[in-house]
Amino acid sequence: MCGIIGYTGKHSVKEVLLNALTLLEYRGYDSAGIAVSGGNGYRKLIKCAGRVSDLEKLCESENIDSTCGIGHTRWATHGGVCDRNAHPHRQGKVTLVHNGIIENYKELAEEFNISDSLISETDSEVVAGMINHFYSESGDPMSSIVKTVKKIRGTFALVIMFDDIPEVIYSIRNVSPIVATITDEGAMLASDLTALCAFTNRYFVVPEYHILTLHKKDIKLYDLAGNEVEPDFQTMDWEKNSADKGGYPFYMEKEIMEQPDAISNTIMPRIKDGLPDFSEEGVPDDLFEESKRICVVACGTAMHAGLVLQAWVKSKLHMHIDVETASEFMYSDPVINNHTLVIAISQSGETIDTLEALKYAKKQGAKSLAIINVKGSSIARESDYVLYTNAGPEIAVASTKAYTTQLSLLYLIVCRMALARGILTKDEVMADTAALMSVPESIKDVLSRRNDIHVIAGNVLEAKDLFMIGRGLDHSILLEGSLKLKEVSYIHSEAYASGELKHGPIALITDDTPVVAVVTQKKLYEKEVSNIREVKSRGARIVLFVKDELSENLEKEFHVWRLPNLKDELMVFPASVALQLFAYYVSSDKGFDVDKPRNLAKVVTVE
Ligand code: G6P
Repeated sequence: MCGIIGYTGKHSVKEVLLNALTLLEYRGYDSAGIAVSGGNGYRKLIKCAGRVSDLEKLCESENIDSTCGIGHTRWATHGGVCDRNAHPHRQGKVTLVHNGIIENYKELAEEFNISDSLISETDSEVVAGMINHFYSESGDPMSSIVKTVKKIRGTFALVIMFDDIPEVIYSIRNVSPIVATITDEGAMLASDLTALCAFTNRYFVVPEYHILTLHKKDIKLYDLAGNEVEPDFQTMDWEKNSADKGGYPFYMEKEIMEQPDAISNTIMPRIKDGLPDFSEEGVPDDLFEESKRICVVACGTAMHAGLVLQAWVKSKLHMHIDVETASEFMYSDPVINNHTLVIAISQSGETIDTLEALKYAKKQGAKSLAIINVKGSSIARESDYVLYTNAGPEIAVASTKAYTTQLSLLYLIVCRMALARGILTKDEVMADTAALMSVPESIKDVLSRRNDIHVIAGNVLEAKDLFMIGRGLDHSILLEGSLKLKEVSYIHSEAYASGELKHGPIALITDDTPVVAVVTQKKLYEKEVSNIREVKSRGARIVLFVKDELSENLEKEFHVWRLPNLKDELMVFPASVALQLFAYYVSSDKGFDVDKPRNLAKVVTVE
């Protein structure tokens, strides 16, 4: 979950590392640190608990004369948040940063007799001690790294410097990601592309258990036997400045505003002659025709996208579909076999629970399709087939455009499946596809009226608890809306299927409890409105997001915000954007750091 950077080249390393760490901070923001090296044994290590901005302040007073160094921004796993647990860590002649978890670090510390020399409580420092142990024996960096990784159990992206080998950086990984590049400006590696895209659009994913070495004008890759391996360079299609805030105060606002374009970029290249078409990406119709059931594995917001898919699959394809929280999946005896299509949904493509669930499903014989935003990520590579959402980089921890682009792609898949399975005619699928193409305009309408949502948000700033109620697809929409609010505003928010209220939760409704309701499904209208009246009559303060054509008569009774009209099954798009804005304004009006909520991280690479 941590952010990692390494650079050796022409430029002052202080600027390069601090800029990159700012971009990578969304991966973890408990502590930050850098270590630099230079000729004549020049070395410096600066680190602290706190944000990258705190590290920047520490660095201001330091005259850092170097063009080579490594950096880290941390999400604590082993050991509390304090200066000494911040990375980089040093043991003897070895300085390193680490992302991942070393499961057997305690045994290894004993075995290598380094427990007493450890300064921090981290698993990472033990690895530094082990590499230093082997390096003291042999003076050979490569074999020291190889011997160390053969002994460690767990996940790791390690970036290492040796005192005796200035201006060269070594790296190795297992599961935890590392991408790298070389340009005229120097060689660079990072835990993800956000840090590289300001430099170049050419990069490669460092293969697992390969040693990467960065030199000022060169980059080399070796397998564990020491054979040189050609890096597999790829081109990223992100714009050079796509990781900027673009003039918005927070990435979350920028990313909410980008949704019309992000959805168009995701669906339009896949619509041929009015029909969804995945042939260019090598996803065959057989996959859609032959599957007997679908199983979604995902976490967080991506899992909520799976719940919407579930509603679509049931109503349009009449097929069996399970949506599994990836962290629970393999412990719940899932019923999967070679007739199951497993769909892994993930923005980052690195969420370890989703990755492990996918691997497990593949072992049971399931076919797999991944819906991913980050190209070349671990889940994308593990899956039989992959379709990318073209959302561009999503930096805010709370996911917005990744979610709606996932939904847009999933809807296209459902349409293609309906065609492939002979459930809908060509004309019917064309009509559905055309309806999807109108989603960006409807989102633009919501965005253009965002100030009204800002006003509504202003009424719940003091709330401690809030409830969100709806039925069917509206309930799935609210699960995500509620997660958004929780993540960024710290208001305790629960989404309930409104028919369930009387079976318990209604006991929590008292005078003035804020209740957000969503009503977008014609077939559920009457029942939903009855449920809203039930909580209103117990004192709840209702905010109602309602599809325009269903809103007549309701404004007399409730505070109503009208959602643009779309086909019922597509109302998830405008409704979700309205709820994203609601959460965003509550958080920003409360003065929180919207993009970096307490305790969270964007990419969760620990189980
Ligand atoms: C973290 C993020 C969430 C995200 C979830 C799954 O918890 O904070 O925003 O939904 O991981 O991430 P993924 O990259 O797999 O979509």
